[in-house]
Amino acid sequence: MTGGAGYIGSHTCVALLQAGYEILVVDNLSNSKKESLLRVEAITGKKVPWVQADVRNRGKMRELFSAHPVEGVIHFAGLKAVGESVEKPLRYYDANVAGSMALAEVMQEFGVRLLVFSSSATVYGDPAMLPIREDFPVGATTNPYGRSKLMVEQIYTDLAVSDKAWQIALLRYFNPVGAHGSGLIGEDPSDIPNNLMPYISQVAVGRRERLTVFGNDYPTVDGTGVRDYIHVMDLAEGHVKALAWLQNHTGAHVFNLGTGRGYSVLEVVKAFETASGRPVPYRFSPRRAGDVAAVYADAMKAEQELKWKASRGIEAMCRDAWNWQQQNPMGYPD
Ligand code: NAD
Ligand code: WQD
Repeated sequence: MTGGAGYIGSHTCVALLQAGYEILVVDNLSNSKKESLLRVEAITGKKVPWVQADVRNRGKMRELFSAHPVEGVIHFAGLKAVGESVEKPLRYYDANVAGSMALAEVMQEFGVRLLVFSSSATVYGDPAMLPIREDFPVGATTNPYGRSKLMVEQIYTDLAVSDKAWQIALLRYFNPVGAHGSGLIGEDPSDIPNNLMPYISQVAVGRRERLTVFGNDYPTVDGTGVRDYIHVMDLAEGHVKALAWLQNHTGAHVFNLGTGRGYSVLEVVKAFETASGRPVPYRFSPRRAGDVAAVYADAMKAEQELKWKASRGIEAMCRDAWNWQQQNPMGYPD
């Protein structure tokens, strides 16, 4: 698992270990701490073998493939801050596109052709219709981060055409939030959070004064942006299902991983206040550049094919995010 020390990776470690898989984590710790893996060990009672390495380092990756009997790869490693990608596009294309190419090259050398890739609903841009199905047009992405995800999808799809042995799942996540129910692992942004749920959590815990709501003039239920928030443990379990499904499927296949339901910013604020019992003061500001009014998935393909369906609602998402935030008000220790 590349990027396994990160937010989604650490939760997927738990789901995979609990499903009986043996894993090896590769992470350069550019956006995570090794403490997350120690916490995964505490939750599961199992060892998490891991190596600090960069996926772009082909020599190091070859060493790992030589030393371990890898059957498949879940590729989380990458950079994900949308705003930063506009300022540092080369850094993003290098980490996300060159990194994904280096990984696939080494996998090919070692005859490992089972690959699950973290893509994003951002590839749909501003959808013409809702809910969003996998066959909707892609490409109208508004930033280098989103374009890097789409490029990797295209590269991996070409690879699967070139060699029929590849078994690839391109998972388009909607908005992952929440934490493991233990409160031991969760989302730990190193800077001011870009995303809504961690920002709200930090306001509720007193680390930040108030939330800024980006826009209240969207054509939505209350004028604020609507997104398909998905509990990170549901998402983690989706990876376990995708791995199992790939055992009998070749080619590259796209799946939405979302709940199929949208919530507005103000609905999330309200749900969080209820779950935490704390007020979340906010004020409105103009729209954030690149944001769209509403995004939510048609999640039927994953349900029918992968036999996977998100089961945790907004209450559990807020409760678990808050539990993690309260137990770890400053995130993971160094
Ligand atoms: P994260 O930053 O918490 O995890 C990514 C991990 O990859 C980190 O531990 C980081 O140290 C590591 N990493 C980064 N570059 C690396 C490299 N070159 N070599 C080795 N390790 C490297 O992010 P996350 O939220 O867990 O996201 C995981 C993946 O899912 C990313 O690819 C992200 O783009 C994608 N994704 C995330 C979201 C979201 O909202 N969180 C939504 C859609 C897609
Ligand atoms: C959600 C809603 C904001 C922060 C991003 C990436 C996407 C994917 C998930 C990686 C929007 C509003 C937010 C705040 C706010 N990441 N908001 N105040 O923008 O849907 O998706 O993360 O792949 O690619 O673009 O998520 O959590 O930033 O925003 O009002 O301080 O909350 O305007 O309506 P987004 P988000």
